[in-house]
Amino acid sequence: MKRREFIAAGAALGASGLLPAFAKKRDRVRVAMIGTGMRGQSQLGPLLSRDDVELVAICDTQRVMLDQAQAIIEKAGRRKPKEYGGNGDVNAWKKLLARTDLDAVFIVTPWEWHAPQSIAAMEAGIAVACEVVAGITLQDHWDVLRTQQRTGTPYMLLENVCYRRDVLAVLQMVRAGLFGELIHMQAGYQHDLRGVKFNSGNPNEPYNSGVEFGDKGFSEAQWRTQHSITRDGELYPSHGIGPCAMYANIHRGNRFTHVNAFSTKARGLHDYILKHPKGGPNHPNAQVKFKLGDIVTTTLRCENGETIILQHDTSLPRPYSIGFRVQGTDGIWMDLNRGLHIEGKSPPHKWEDAQKYYDEYDHPLWKRYAEKAAGAGHGGMDWFVVHAFIEALKAGEPMPIDIYDAVAWSAITPLSEQSIAEDYKTLAFPDFTEGKWKTRTPIFALDGRY
Ligand SMILES: NC(=O)c1ccc[n+]([C@@H]2O[C@H](COP(=O)([O-])OP(=O)(O)OC[C@H]3O[C@@H](n4cnc5c(N)ncnc54)[C@H](O)[C@@H]3O)[C@@H](O)[C@H]2O)c1
Repeated sequence: MKRREFIAAGAALGASGLLPAFAKKRDRVRVAMIGTGMRGQSQLGPLLSRDDVELVAICDTQRVMLDQAQAIIEKAGRRKPKEYGGNGDVNAWKKLLARTDLDAVFIVTPWEWHAPQSIAAMEAGIAVACEVVAGITLQDHWDVLRTQQRTGTPYMLLENVCYRRDVLAVLQMVRAGLFGELIHMQAGYQHDLRGVKFNSGNPNEPYNSGVEFGDKGFSEAQWRTQHSITRDGELYPSHGIGPCAMYANIHRGNRFTHVNAFSTKARGLHDYILKHPKGGPNHPNAQVKFKLGDIVTTTLRCENGETIILQHDTSLPRPYSIGFRVQGTDGIWMDLNRGLHIEGKSPPHKWEDAQKYYDEYDHPLWKRYAEKAAGAGHGGMDWFVVHAFIEALKAGEPMPIDIYDAVAWSAITPLSEQSIAEDYKTLAFPDFTEGKWKTRTPIFALDGRY
């Protein structure tokens, strides 16, 4: 196609919601970050390491977080970005988004801000890189989606686990048909967050130092704990569902059709307060009633006949694991035992060490960029998710984790809450693509570029 025809076709597709109309190519991107807390500061690393990124503005409600971010930026030898907020003003980000020089914004705030900040940024034509999750309510997810469709502004959910080295190697195995036809997957957010939820937040104290959560300080306890008090559901689905959705080609030939969830009783957080050296039965937090079941089990069914089980497990003592299981007609992978079994290849009824397969199927992205990614958060995968967003934006190409992925993965939370609240009812999963899943083809990590 000639360039002019290509642009015309792109605009027509953009208007129909199939392709972002916003497909400007660029060599460098001017970036801002809203929320420079723990995660924001860790994501500064991959951003500041790039010559094609200029960080021009940062925003946080808390002075201490802006100062910590500026120290990281100065240490990296980069120009000081303009600051917004720092005085408790929860709306300072609106002034940041009023700038006319921004190509993109990283949204790294507490969950409840993601939808309003993403929507405002897209309205302003500023590409959005949003930390997990996309929104809180089901309506939030429709609103984020409709805004993206109407404005055509690029939007990517920063789901980093999709880029984990073993997860990407398994994607190669799935695509090569090693497991045969996919039948079932499992994963979860299985992370003992008791220390995080009860960190007093005083930067001079180590984690787990107190149980006076939420009322002061500078940590996730300021916002995350409240969700365990008022909500019961799969509160953090994307680390588990992201990779599974990519394996199952969700929104690209497949889709979620049904969802339901069960939750256990809530004991872990209360028990933690009682047993904590600074807690005990007379501590004020011992009176807090937690709504979040200690283990929430969500089941999804897909159009092509697969099931996916997710488990949310953040209130009990346990080592971290996502607990992936990918199973098909020819074999199975589980990450916890680093085990793989392929019929005809593996000894009958025996696990093989998955490392051999990880090496053989190592993804081109990791082969190419492992050195650059080394040192970035979460074993390097954080570098890849930033890289993917920046490269797709520069190329004017569709985001590898796009708006449909973002809203469907993240809407599992309100849907699981609804299922539990309605006596564990099985619900129809909304088709956010409105039928487009039938014709869209996979793009995620298809080559060694991003
Ligand atoms: N992908 C991952 O591996 C990963 C890891 C950690 C956190 N996260 C996500 O990152 C986000 C932030 O988490 P965190 O651990 O950094 O929490 P945090 O509490 O350390 O940081 C959040 C920051 O946002 C600031 N903030 C709050 N409201 C604001 C507003 N209205 N405007 C501007 N700033 C505001 C807070 O002051 C705080 O500094 C969450 O969505 C979390 O789920 C993702």
